[in-house]
Amino acid sequence: MSIFSEKHILLAVTGSIAAYKAADLASKLTQAGALVDVILSPAAEKFVSPLTFQSVTGRKAFTDADLWGGEAHILHVGLGHSADLLVAAPCTANTLAKMAQGIADNLVSITALAARCPILVAPAMDVGMFEHPATQENVRILRERGVHFAGPDEGRMASGLVGRGRFVEPPELLGHIRLALGFGGKLAGKKIVVTAGGTQEPIDPVRVVTNKSSGKQGYALAQAALDAGGTVSLVAAPTSLTPPVGAKVVPARTAQEMLEAVLAESAGVDALVMAAAVADFRPKKVAGNKLKKRDGIPQIELEAAPDVLLAVAGLGSGRPRIVIGFAAESRDLLENAEVKLKSKNLDMIAANDISAVDAGFGADTNRITLLYADGRRESLPLMGKDEAAEVIVKRLAVLLETK
Ligand code: CTP
Repeated sequence: MSIFSEKHILLAVTGSIAAYKAADLASKLTQAGALVDVILSPAAEKFVSPLTFQSVTGRKAFTDADLWGGEAHILHVGLGHSADLLVAAPCTANTLAKMAQGIADNLVSITALAARCPILVAPAMDVGMFEHPATQENVRILRERGVHFAGPDEGRMASGLVGRGRFVEPPELLGHIRLALGFGGKLAGKKIVVTAGGTQEPIDPVRVVTNKSSGKQGYALAQAALDAGGTVSLVAAPTSLTPPVGAKVVPARTAQEMLEAVLAESAGVDALVMAAAVADFRPKKVAGNKLKKRDGIPQIELEAAPDVLLAVAGLGSGRPRIVIGFAAESRDLLENAEVKLKSKNLDMIAANDISAVDAGFGADTNRITLLYADGRRESLPLMGKDEAAEVIVKRLAVLLETK
């Protein structure tokens, strides 16, 4: 189940040209399973109509006309109280100022004042307005009150000027909303390190020895840990994936770099989830120049690459409280996973059979069996890597509670 499902999001749209992008955001949230109530400020109505939002959310979009309707005296309270999150996007300098100062002169600002849920603000304003000391002061006041911010970005404005004030793009804003919804979850206050992707061991300046890992399972795990409110470091080998909003990304190309990054990031943390496919072997010598065909077929001698989990197992008191490994196997799945569980001193290992087309490297689904240090085993059905990540993070939360 996605973090958005059944979540009640109150989307306050104010008068910026970026208001049209809020329709895309409302659509994406609705598709993800959220119940989206939209309120438009009078200025927002000049750019987009309530009908635009009603058409994508399937729910009534509110305007100041509703302020003076039959249920006017309770509308703002009802909207503000039933929401899990109030998202002001795009939020103008004017609405930002009203929120900071407690001014309530339209349905958006009245609702913001009445709301008891967390608030996320995505500012959008022209060059100079965001940097203005008045706006900066308002941002500071709101931040101090625990209001979350998404952006603004730097870039080209509708006015043609370039600077800071651009509305963050909806896919990224979705990540910020996810982050705000996750606060206070089961992993709140917990530091989690997740590794992802397949390492690359250089042969020469252009060639590498690598593996078929896509990084999807590791990235999904980082997202699931963030959804649960955790503080996440994502030690990532090269992939084409976009990291989840809120994760601290630490790039690591080789097994050696991954070892160093994991040791630096995981000292004293609550958990390490080692989903990366780390090279076991690497070229003993790296050629300084590109190997040329005219020099004949090279003989590439391999040597052992460092084993990250073995190094972590030897950390003693600095070892993360919980360490979870993965076993990618093409035969004798559970026997091999059991050996790795013990030899790498893990609390849990997720074993998956990479010989199946619907599981393992590159696929969007996985069929995982979880093996625990206390001997328990749990077979999960075929599921999306996102769902598998959610289950693993839930089990991690239990392990953290009980260890
Ligand atoms: N791993 C690691 N460092 C390595 C290789 C693997 O930390 N150099 C971790 C992986 O991230 C994974 C676990 O060890 O969590 C098991 O990885 P896997 O490749 O399945 O096993 P190997 O240790 O390589 O053992 P084998 O060669 O027997 O498959």
